[in-house]
Amino acid sequence: MKILGIESSCDETAAALVDYTGGRFSVLSNVVASQIEIHKKTKGVVPEVAARCHVEAIIPVIKEAMQNETKPDAIAITKGPGLVTSLRIGVDTARTLSFFWGVPMIGVNHLEGHIYASVLQNTAIEFPALCLVVSGGHTELVLMKKHLDYKIIGETRDDAAGEAFDKVAKILDLGYPGGPEISKLAKEGNPKAIDFPRPMIDSKDFDFSFSGLKTAVLYYVKNLKPKTYNLKPDICASFEQAVVDVLVAKTICAAKKYKVKTVILGGGVSANQRLRDELSKAVKNLLPTSHSLLPSLKYTTDNAAMIATVGVFHAINKNFISWEKIDVDPNLSL
Ligand code: KG4
Ligand code: ZN
Repeated sequence: MKILGIESSCDETAAALVDYTGGRFSVLSNVVASQIEIHKKTKGVVPEVAARCHVEAIIPVIKEAMQNETKPDAIAITKGPGLVTSLRIGVDTARTLSFFWGVPMIGVNHLEGHIYASVLQNTAIEFPALCLVVSGGHTELVLMKKHLDYKIIGETRDDAAGEAFDKVAKILDLGYPGGPEISKLAKEGNPKAIDFPRPMIDSKDFDFSFSGLKTAVLYYVKNLKPKTYNLKPDICASFEQAVVDVLVAKTICAAKKYKVKTVILGGGVSANQRLRDELSKAVKNLLPTSHSLLPSLKYTTDNAAMIATVGVFHAINKNFISWEKIDVDPNLSL
């Protein structure tokens, strides 16, 4: 079966063709038109600007992703959560194609896309599984007892992890998006240089909070005496370490409680090398009967291959929807 995935929930216009044959996934194409250069000027996404960029990019992106195929078996489309105008362009383009080609649609939650990104390595998820989803808009711990079955057991009470990276980057006058800029500078710094707080690390639940950590960085920077040397690498490394410590501690704690067999990482922040290294090390050392699944770097940030991959599981369950019925839901939850 060949599924065309389409993703336009935020600032990337993406389309991908994923083949599923004999239990194996292959990505036949994976096209992403990034708007990063445009949003760099405003240091963040302006929804109206993002929507206009999607309109321009979406047909060329789909055309490139389709290569020489005439039509896919189904179209998997992100229906939420995200920016309503951005989502609308992806969904309406997919509806048109569904009508024209006469193929069914599959409505996908963007976050389940991030959860399934690592399945593209053809490593099976063993259940129960725990997913740490860390993106620009979300930080969630999700328990899965079977495919496509999600229970949120913890989430952020304020800023998402990626949002904290982006806001701290702004405080430090670094570029957009903040995550890659911070992790690049962090490599040159000492993660123990500054003792930033680890919010909620010992709380008995699985919720997160990153807003206080961001404020701690803000006050640290404000109180710096006129700089005699550049402290940015140390601030980046210490901030990054604080975020990673909380994410890893909570994930391991939840994984023990629910006796999970797989720990899955997903979302844009899963591109962070310190998080990847420390989470996989902790799973190996502290959860000897579990294994970790990390997405390849190219499937960490927004892409449509992950949307098509979830689409395969929905197609197996015959979770199709017609172009007349599908709608966007900017606040869709798992
Ligand atoms: O999943 P994603 O591409 O978009 C959303 O669904 O939000 O995630 C984007 C987020 C941004 O906040 C970005 O700063 C963060 O992922 N990010 C990173 C890294 N690369 C991207 N955060 C930390 N370290 C990175 N290397
Ligand atoms: Zn995302």
